[in-house]
Amino acid sequence: MGMSSGMSYRLASGQDRQDETGSTRRVVLGAAGVAAAAAALAACSTSSGGGDATPSPVSGIPTSEIPLDGGKVIAGARVVITQPAEGTFKAFDAICPHQGCEVTDIVDNVIRCPCHGSTFDATTGERIAGPAPRGLTTLPVTLTGSTISVR
Ligand code: FES
Repeated sequence: MGMSSGMSYRLASGQDRQDETGSTRRVVLGAAGVAAAAAALAACSTSSGGGDATPSPVSGIPTSEIPLDGGKVIAGARVVITQPAEGTFKAFDAICPHQGCEVTDIVDNVIRCPCHGSTFDATTGERIAGPAPRGLTTLPVTLTGSTISVR
């Protein structure tokens, strides 16, 4: 939405004022850039705003979906489930305590935030490195047969 309106504005001003295109374009581009950045920030804080409250409970996650020494981010629930040892499952709030990005990769028992590279221990949630001020919040896991629930 913001992007397309910015583009049509730029085109219109280019046609109307050919002589001043240089300066006009620069100003318009600058404004569009600021608008885009603001939109990105707004989108970011909107999504993390909901996440700051609490992760959503999830249930019925098959253990087979959680790789050993890896894990999975449950889409839409802000929950990350890991399997740091065979048959041992852990769950954490998937929102990075740095600036609210959702963690993405879990490799070799390390949970990684894509935004600024904070890393967390997939067993304890503790911060390993990066700008995050603390680790991920641990969530209680219930294993029922071969399915996982997280509250
Ligand atoms: S938000 Fe995760 S490292 Fe910055």
